[in-house]
Amino acid sequence: MSDVSLKTNKLANFINGEWMEVESSKAVINPATGEELVQVPLSGAKCVDDAAAAAKKAQKEWRLVPAPQRAEVLYQVGYLMKERKERLSQLLTMENGKVIEEARGEVQEGIDMAFYMAGEGRRLFGQTTPAELQNKFAMSQRTPVGVVGIITPWNFPIAIATWKSFPAIVAGNAVIWKPATETPIMAFELAKIFEEAGLPEGVLNVVFGAGSEIGDAMVHHDDIRVISFTGSNDTGRHIASEGGKQLKKVSLEMGGKNAVIVMDDADVDLAVEGIIWSAFGTSGQRCTACSRVIVHEAVKETLEERLLAEMEKLTIGNGLNESIKVGPIINKAGLEKIKSYTEIGKNEGAKLLAGGYELTEGDNANGNYFAPTLFTDATADMRIAQEEIFGPVVSLIPVKSFEEAIEVNNGVTYGLSSSIFTNDVNRVFKAQRDLDTGIVYVNAGTTGAEIHLPFGGTKGTGNGHRDSGVQALDVFTEWRAIYVDYSGKLQRAQIDVD
Ligand code: UN1
Repeated sequence: MSDVSLKTNKLANFINGEWMEVESSKAVINPATGEELVQVPLSGAKCVDDAAAAAKKAQKEWRLVPAPQRAEVLYQVGYLMKERKERLSQLLTMENGKVIEEARGEVQEGIDMAFYMAGEGRRLFGQTTPAELQNKFAMSQRTPVGVVGIITPWNFPIAIATWKSFPAIVAGNAVIWKPATETPIMAFELAKIFEEAGLPEGVLNVVFGAGSEIGDAMVHHDDIRVISFTGSNDTGRHIASEGGKQLKKVSLEMGGKNAVIVMDDADVDLAVEGIIWSAFGTSGQRCTACSRVIVHEAVKETLEERLLAEMEKLTIGNGLNESIKVGPIINKAGLEKIKSYTEIGKNEGAKLLAGGYELTEGDNANGNYFAPTLFTDATADMRIAQEEIFGPVVSLIPVKSFEEAIEVNNGVTYGLSSSIFTNDVNRVFKAQRDLDTGIVYVNAGTTGAEIHLPFGGTKGTGNGHRDSGVQALDVFTEWRAIYVDYSGKLQRAQIDVD
């Protein structure tokens, strides 16, 4: 089905511009077929020391390269990604399982990020402002933090890596990147692209390995001043508390329990399309996946019927096949978690309308497949309506009013994305004011973030930082205030003013 190959059966770390082999490794499994794709290194903490030393040395010079020149490397990265879009997309589908159309979309997101952040090379705006004294100049500018660590998840292995590494690099930092061990191929390919694009050695270092070993070593390394992490809530909290001891800047994105609200005046067919795309795209393994539908009781039955009809059309299988709509679950542990939540839902008294089972027959026998699953009559406090499942499982929660819908939407510990389907302009404006998530969609599903806007969430989703958008630069830069006094005498601020 695929015509791409890796030309290696074992990946290597990329440290100081060199490909370094590591003895210990484990298999990367194609979740669609159960086949081994390649071996990923399981590095030890020493590799983080080596990468940090290389990064520290490289950053001393990289920070002095004019930002527009730093950006030239990113432009080149963007061109190479564009040239290799199909190869990258197929490899992405093979290691992650998402269907090829979505894989192409994800790679495109990375390409867009390359050109967007390359443009920042000619902006990186600071401020100039009047000084309070005569013959004095005042301004602020962004300066790189130094060596930064990025830890990326398997669900968007290339897009999220670009959200973090591109702003870091254009701003003049050196990067140590630990990709998820489930999806190391995207990291390998992107590092090769950076190498070909002419990034100086040591500016980007990739260390493969377990979070408990490599992630932990990064979090505790004195020379790594920022950790930007996307992943689970438990790990994010651990990173924040450990990083906090060293006063590291920690940027976290830790998932969601995102809802689509369908009001009584909504275009129900459009809402169904939005729900299907948000709940079952990437097999529900998105931080922004819709896992709750908050539906006005007046349209509940119609919505259920139409959702079921559309769910029947969802073909499940290997995402390299263009006709497949829903791919596999990343691994057996993910599958078990999803299965356990369907049991939890049933025991809690929600009504299972569709799915709820693993697919184990025929072409699907060797992969990790789970049928798109729909519960209805869930209540807002049920575990299936509160906890992140990270799979193709969605629960309908009926409500009686707009106000109740907002309350239910906000009544979870997460705050990433929310969506409302309504044709009432007053409700639109109230919703965008009162929904408490970092991202709000109107008449669209809960996914589909564009790269030039901030991505992240409130409450348990994060800690106030954002990926993507110009706001990503805040994670990787410090502000410096600069005063130049050209009066030839000592002028004392706040004192020598009339
Ligand atoms: C994530 O799941 O962590 O907007 C990222 C979206 C995708 C990115 C999701 N482009 O849902």
